[in-house]
Amino acid sequence: MTNFTHVAGRVHADLASPDWWREAVIYQIYPKSWADSNGDGIGDLNGVRQNLPYLAELGVDAIWFSPFFVGPQTDGGYDVADYRDIDPMFGTLQDAEALIQEAHELGIKIIIDVVPNHTSVEHPFFKAAIATPPGSPEWERYHLVRGQGENGELPPNDWISIFSGPAWTQTNFEGKPTGYWYLHIFDAGQPDVNWDHPDIVDEFDKTLRFWFDRGVDGFRIDVAHGLVKSEGYPGGGEEKVLDENGEIVDIIPHPYWCQDGVHEIYRRWRAIANEYTPTRIFVGEIGEPTTARVAKYLRPDELHTGFNFGYLTAQWHADSVRKNVNETIEFNVPIGAPTTWVTDNHDTTRSVTRYGCDWPAHNWADSVDRDSKFSNHYVANDEEVALGRRRGRASMLQMLALPGSAYIYQGQELGLEEVRDIPAEKRQDPVYINSKGDIVGRDGDRVPMPWTRSGKSLGFGPEDGAEPWLPMPRRWSEVSVEAQLEDPDSMHSLTRTALLLRRQLPLLGSGQMRWRDDLVESANVLAFERFDETSVSSVVCVANYGDENVSVAALSVLIASQPDVSLHNGHVVIPPDTTVWLIL
Ligand code: NOJ
Repeated sequence: MTNFTHVAGRVHADLASPDWWREAVIYQIYPKSWADSNGDGIGDLNGVRQNLPYLAELGVDAIWFSPFFVGPQTDGGYDVADYRDIDPMFGTLQDAEALIQEAHELGIKIIIDVVPNHTSVEHPFFKAAIATPPGSPEWERYHLVRGQGENGELPPNDWISIFSGPAWTQTNFEGKPTGYWYLHIFDAGQPDVNWDHPDIVDEFDKTLRFWFDRGVDGFRIDVAHGLVKSEGYPGGGEEKVLDENGEIVDIIPHPYWCQDGVHEIYRRWRAIANEYTPTRIFVGEIGEPTTARVAKYLRPDELHTGFNFGYLTAQWHADSVRKNVNETIEFNVPIGAPTTWVTDNHDTTRSVTRYGCDWPAHNWADSVDRDSKFSNHYVANDEEVALGRRRGRASMLQMLALPGSAYIYQGQELGLEEVRDIPAEKRQDPVYINSKGDIVGRDGDRVPMPWTRSGKSLGFGPEDGAEPWLPMPRRWSEVSVEAQLEDPDSMHSLTRTALLLRRQLPLLGSGQMRWRDDLVESANVLAFERFDETSVSSVVCVANYGDENVSVAALSVLIASQPDVSLHNGHVVIPPDTTVWLIL
């Protein structure tokens, strides 16, 4: 593992500001895949501790950790058996406490995941339920429903699991099927809990307080829109509401999502977060179908922020991005919620691959024709990866120039592409397993980080350690942290410089934004200005999505996503798939 001790050039964010989350750049760590300190082939908390200076030097404000709690890892940690302890594969509670403290000393906030829609089947609540017959009070903490058919031998309704197959599994008691089925919107190992039950409310109150008391700055809420189910479990799915011209004006979500009752839960949680100084924060994984519906969760007494899935799924195209930016600002600004931007996470085909293959929009569960390059089975060729990397650089600069807060998923700062050539027997994602390989799933964006040019696991773990839990491509030697640190033109150097500029120019986080279509006459270009009333200067971001150069008059180029872009005679020529930040 590379040893990072030097934390140069870091301008510390104002940790004491209660509003840090409004413009924070948050780095997502998938703990299994970041750094393995003990050589078991799996990333761990001490691996993160050893490499915290890397993140300080990169210049991020906070880390969001995907789950590291006790659980059988049926769904990569999103199946929790104990919300208030660390799984031994990741370390101990003491390691977590040390990590929180050490991150804080470096000026980095900590956000952890909470998974309140479902527990693992290993959670004591579910173990207690399954040990009793239907009708017992233990079952009331879950959704247990009589099946259809004479003996209840058919699932209660037509709900389908997100991970394939029915969203119901029949229970057994004393070795016999009971005719009663429990609900699991995800894997059968992830039973949905009943939020009308006081024990569930209490379990999560306790969990929030437990981690807040240990200094955690906030929670990312898994499936934030899913906690409450439609009464009576009506069958059916999502419905589109059309106007007289056939345009979609609203989408009524599937009855297992997006029920109004969730808002009461978040008002309760917000009150808990407000008990702390500085205030703790929430970011919701809000899978509502429209931006207007997402905005409801961001009212001042609910969640602080939510992920912008419209931006994440948008294709590399000026119109798609402009539409999302406009909508996001339109709905967030009136309620005082900061806009957020994200292009990559542990559920998503990496943007390098999506952008390089010109995917129309992203849906990880799509199962289109495998040979089509829009299929998630498709293996991008070298040319597509190179194009995707170029676009990934342009996208990073555009994202970091937009108002509000942004997310960087581990390895995005290295320009990693999706890994498709993972042997079936190594794959672990229930999306792949439950669909019998029909849907390739998410293992390919969870491949461990390459830290060094050489070594068995490219520095992910110690030389004498076990193989990484997912195989790492040897070609990543060239895009490893070590290789990129040496190269002033690398994606890593670009990201680091952009983050440093963002800190030096606070208007990039908190300032206002206006489109500057007057600067370039092309529908393939997005130009916008960031300004604030109190400062004389402003920064203009121009992204060229087209296939021809464009020229803009400017005073100076602050940063460009390609090395060969500079000012000549008061003009900057911006090549295709390139973003620049300018002073006009
Ligand atoms: C969303 C998480 O991001 C994903 O990884 C997980 O599989 C589901 N929620 C279920 O918890």
